[in-house]
Amino acid sequence: MTKETKDFSKYFDFSGAKIISEDEQGKKIRIGGRDIHIMSEPNYRQEKQRGKEEVRVLYDQAVPEELRSLGNGKHYLIYTYGCQMNEHDTEVMKGMFEQMGYTATEDRNEADVILLNTCAIRENAEDKVFGELGHLKHLKTEKPGLILGVCGCMSQEESVVGRILQKHAFVDLIFGTHNIHRLPQLLSDALFSKEMVVEVWSKEGDIIENLPKKREGMRAWVNIMYGCDKFCTYCIVPYTRGKERSRRPEDVIAEVRELARQGYKEITLLGQNVNAYGKDFEDISYRFGDLMADIQKIAIPRIRFTTSHPRDFDDHLIEVLGRRGNLVEHIHLPVQSGSTEILKRMSRKYTRESYLELVRKIKAVIPDVVLTSDIIVGFPGETEEQFEDTLSLVREVGYDSAYTFIYSPRAGTPAAGMEDNVPMEVKKQRLRRLNDLIGELSRERNEQLRGQIVEVLVEGESKNNADVLSGRTRTNKLVHIEGPKEWIGQFIQVRVTEAQTWYIKAEPVHQQTAEAVS
Ligand code: 5AD
Ligand code: SF4
Repeated sequence: MTKETKDFSKYFDFSGAKIISEDEQGKKIRIGGRDIHIMSEPNYRQEKQRGKEEVRVLYDQAVPEELRSLGNGKHYLIYTYGCQMNEHDTEVMKGMFEQMGYTATEDRNEADVILLNTCAIRENAEDKVFGELGHLKHLKTEKPGLILGVCGCMSQEESVVGRILQKHAFVDLIFGTHNIHRLPQLLSDALFSKEMVVEVWSKEGDIIENLPKKREGMRAWVNIMYGCDKFCTYCIVPYTRGKERSRRPEDVIAEVRELARQGYKEITLLGQNVNAYGKDFEDISYRFGDLMADIQKIAIPRIRFTTSHPRDFDDHLIEVLGRRGNLVEHIHLPVQSGSTEILKRMSRKYTRESYLELVRKIKAVIPDVVLTSDIIVGFPGETEEQFEDTLSLVREVGYDSAYTFIYSPRAGTPAAGMEDNVPMEVKKQRLRRLNDLIGELSRERNEQLRGQIVEVLVEGESKNNADVLSGRTRTNKLVHIEGPKEWIGQFIQVRVTEAQTWYIKAEPVHQQTAEAVS
């Protein structure tokens, strides 16, 4: 039965949309001749809730036998926006594509499936995705068999899904961050049904282990937890990534061991707030410090982690990091603002003083630590004085670098409803002043390294000059050196010869390479 509807829901309000059917399989609707199968749609109210329901850990196969030849002779391409969590999700999706028989391509004209793995953190990230969809529309017109998908954080937003249904109905597939493992099934549904398939879960569901991953290079990411319960008032992540769920320590450790066996040189442990790791375990008392202590014993030369929340950074973790070995002396410790009043309105749950106290404790145990940060300027109502508190904190901490952002209102977050009397021109000016200060500090800190010997993991040719190799120090500083291509993938001892703002130049100390000790 077909019936007219004008108010399908808050965001699906298109005159002319018809509901074709509605049952436990979801809704089938038709908009402007396009059939859309909404298996489930995002729901902010549900995303906000933090239920007590148990999170199961599943060890099933994500790619069923019958779909393992779906992509034979076909190509896939994934564009990834945003953070390392998204980069890593892309590696998982690539793994699944390849188990389905697909081959990777960089050429969009060759691709049979194109996915946009999107980021919702700021408005400009979303604008880029909608811009790209505009370009891809032409490709889809030329090649109607192409499957176009949107996944990642933007798919978790009600307003985004509504906008795609309304204005970009040529998209074939929308799925969210909680059901990435459903990609094979959803893709085959989209291919065979010719409908747009929408499946976005508002509840996080289970932790799925054993998903295939296609990693590249010598550095690997490993998820230790998913989601975030912090609900900073400006941030969309708790809504798009769900509640905090930690992977079991034995699963994380097994994955790191396997990567060590495969010869990876560096591992970054990933979570929106890694310091909350283990808080959700009910049967064991095992936190991030314990995990780091166990991972330190594995023969991987370098272990990093990102990202930290100052509130949960405990003394045990500081003590463990002080043991060094493969635990590098770099901590990304986002502060967001140097003003206690603004931090309170951001609901960061620490003060300027307690953050500085944490920095003091870390420096007491790791004197040569490199600290980096995320900072937001122009939060609603931020005064000149409060902004200057941020500048003075940046000086006091002495960051080596920081990612800086102008506050971007995100629909559905508490800060989006706060009164904001700071003109955009003032916000832009503050960003420039902050960036100037950070550039100055970064250069100073790099200058202090001149003449020192540091260990570099050589990653490849420099982006702008193929005769120069580029790599990273333990503290994650970018280094340029001249040397043979055989050094790529090796640890080299170098002497710093020149400091720039965003990188250092160095010369090799020994001609032979030295593996780092763990
Ligand atoms: N506006 C600007 N920056 C934001 N961030 C998160 N949400 C917003 C927002 N609404 C920044 C924070 C966070 C980083 C990943 O992005 O600094 O640490
Ligand atoms: Fe967003 Fe705050 Fe969670 Fe970081 S800790 S992801 S800024 S809510």
